[in-house]
Amino acid sequence: MIPSVYKQNCLSCHGSQLEGKYGPSLQTVGSQLTEEEITNIISKGEGGMPAFGKRLEEEEIASISEWLSEQK
Ligand code: HEC
Repeated sequence: MIPSVYKQNCLSCHGSQLEGKYGPSLQTVGSQLTEEEITNIISKGEGGMPAFGKRLEEEEIASISEWLSEQK
């Protein structure tokens, strides 16, 4: 199940199945990055990836990071 926070904020760049589009595929991101690294990238941004630290609640970033870290 794809979380609604992902659908609203991430899908346009990372694709409806995490397959990647403008941004890279996130289908196996959990085997490349730790949950903490994922949280950092979402909060602060990186390269073409916008920062969401001011746009999302801390719990929303935490839960999406946890979910992504399980995508292996
Ligand atoms: C405007 C397009 C855009 C949006 C919206 C966006 N991303 Fe990204 N994302 C990118 C790009 C581009 C990169 C690659 C950044 C780089 O390293 O240059 C990236 C990288 C990432 C990475 C690191 C992937 C890796 O393999 O290094 C994660 C994790 C990520 N995004 C998660 C998210 C999440 C979660 C959201 C929604 C809250 C989101 N992104 C929204 C464009 C976007």
